[in-house]
Amino acid sequence: TIVILDFGSQYTQLIARRIREFNVFSVVLPCTAPLSDVLALNPKGIILSGGPSSVYDADAPAADPKVLTTELPILGICYGLQFITHHLGGKVHPADKREYGHARVQIANHNRLFAGLPQEINVWMSHGDSAVQLPEGFTQTAQTSSALASIANEEKRIWAVQFHPEVNHSEKGSELLRNFVIEICGAKPDWTPEHFIQSTVERVRAQVGPKGHAICGLSGGVDSSVAAVLVHKAIGDRLTCIFVNNGVLRKEEFAKVQATMREKLGLKVIAVDAGERFLSRLSGITDPEAKRKIIGNEFIAVFDDEAEKILKDLETKGVAEHDAEGNEVAWLVQGTLYPDVIESSSVKGPSQTIKSHHNVGGLPENMKLKLIEPLRDLFKDEVRRIGRDLGMPEEILERQPFPGPGLAVRILGEITPDRVAILQEADAVVVEEVKAAGLYRQLWQSFAVLLPVKTVGVMGDQRTYAYTCAIRAVTSEDGMTADWAPLPYEVLKTISSRIVNEVRGINRVVYDITSKPPGTIEWE
Ligand code: XMP
Repeated sequence: TIVILDFGSQYTQLIARRIREFNVFSVVLPCTAPLSDVLALNPKGIILSGGPSSVYDADAPAADPKVLTTELPILGICYGLQFITHHLGGKVHPADKREYGHARVQIANHNRLFAGLPQEINVWMSHGDSAVQLPEGFTQTAQTSSALASIANEEKRIWAVQFHPEVNHSEKGSELLRNFVIEICGAKPDWTPEHFIQSTVERVRAQVGPKGHAICGLSGGVDSSVAAVLVHKAIGDRLTCIFVNNGVLRKEEFAKVQATMREKLGLKVIAVDAGERFLSRLSGITDPEAKRKIIGNEFIAVFDDEAEKILKDLETKGVAEHDAEGNEVAWLVQGTLYPDVIESSSVKGPSQTIKSHHNVGGLPENMKLKLIEPLRDLFKDEVRRIGRDLGMPEEILERQPFPGPGLAVRILGEITPDRVAILQEADAVVVEEVKAAGLYRQLWQSFAVLLPVKTVGVMGDQRTYAYTCAIRAVTSEDGMTADWAPLPYEVLKTISSRIVNEVRGINRVVYDITSKPPGTIEWE
C-alpha cells in the first residue's frame, strides 16, 4: 500500500489512479489523518499531495509533521514539497498569485526518482510559493528556467517535485511515479483484479456469515451490477436483487435488464413494475427538483416494501438472522465508489462537491439493514476492469451513465405516459445510431431530450404540429465537466431523419452545442 495524504489538490485522486495502474494499492487519506491511522495501513511509502493553500496560510491544511520522520520513503508533490521544506527548516517564499501551465524541467541530478528519464521533460507545473532555502541535507535536483523543480535527501529517503507528475500532460510522469512506488518503496505489484475479486469475495463471505442474507437494488448500470455479482459469488442465492420499473426507464429496459441479470449473471431478481405508481405521482409536476424528489422518495418506498417482504419471508421460513435484541437483520449491498468515500472525508468537506445527485436517498432508520459496499475502494474504470475479469457482458460494463430519475429529467415540463413513450422511441434511435457509428464507447453520454415546444412542419402534403427533440452528446472524464461532442454530420443526419420519420409526435430535431460548464449534461 502507498498512502497519499490529501492536502486538497484537484489532482489527488489521479495520483491514486496512476499508482493503481502499476497494480499497487493506494489509499487517499485526508492530511489531517492521525499518524497512527497512516501507519496502521502498513504503507511502503507516503505521498504528500498538492493543495491550494500556502504553508503560511493561517488555515493551511495541517498534517502531523512527524510524518516526515517515519523513515518510510516520502514523495512530496507541489504543496507537498513546500510542506517538507517548511517543516524541515527550509524557507518557502510566498507568492501573491498562482499560475498554472506547462514548463520545461531540466534534470540536474538523475537520482533514483529520475532514473531512466531524459535530461529534459515537459511537465504540468503549478507556480505558487517556491522553496528559496532548502532544509539541511537536501539538494536541488531539477529546475525550470525560472524556478526550482525538485529536491531530494536520499539519505533520509525524502524526494519532492514542484510539478504534477500525476497529470497526463506531464511527460514521463508515470515513470517518475513508478520509480518512487516500485523502485524506491519496493511496493509489490500484486493488486490485480483477480486479487481484488478473491479478497473481496472472502471478506463479504466472512462479513455476512454462513447464514446471512443480503439485498441489493439494481439499476441496470455498471456499479450496482458488479457489486451484485461480487456478493453473489460470495453468498450465492442468499442475495436477492430488487429492480424497480419507475416508469421512466428506456425503451424495453425493464424486460432487458431482468433478462440480462437473471440469464447472463445468474442473479436472483425481484422485478417490481411500479411504473404507474411513479407516473401518477409525477402527473402535473414540472419542476426538475420536485421530479427528482418524488422519484427518490417513491423509490425508497417501493424498495422498502420489497425488502420488508423479503425479510418476512425469511422469518417465515425460519432462516432469518437476529441481533442481540432479537431484531431481524440482513445486509444491504450498495455500489458506493471510492471517489464518494474520499469526497466525504476530504479536507474540503462534502460541501464543496459540485454533485448533488443521489440515486437512493437513504433507507428508514428502523430497517435493520447493515451496509456492504464491495466497491468502496474502486474508481469507475477499475469497476469495469473487475467486471471484465468476472466475465460480465460488455453491454453492461460499457453502458453510459443513466441518471436515477431517468427520462423524467429529459422530458421538460410535465411527464405524461405519451411523452415517455415518445422519448423512449427517440432515445432508442440515438443509442442505435451512435452504436452503429462506433461512437458509443467514446462518448460519456448520448441521448435525446423531449422539449415541450411544438413547431410546424410538413410531411407529404400534410401540415404537422408536433414536439421538438434535442440531441445531446458529450465527452467527459467524470461527468463534472464535459465537452459537447462534434458528432459527424452523417450520424446527425441519420438520427434526425429516423426520428422525424419513425417517431410519431416529433417533427423537429435540434443539436445541443453547449459544454459543461456553463451548461449541465442533463437539461434538468
Ligand atoms: P449534470 O446534468 O449535473 O449531470 O451535468 C452530471 C452527471 O450526473 C447525472 N445525473 C444524475 N444522476 N441522479 C443521478 O443518479 C440525478 O438526479 C442526476 N442528474 C444528473 C448525469 O446523467 C450526468 O452523468
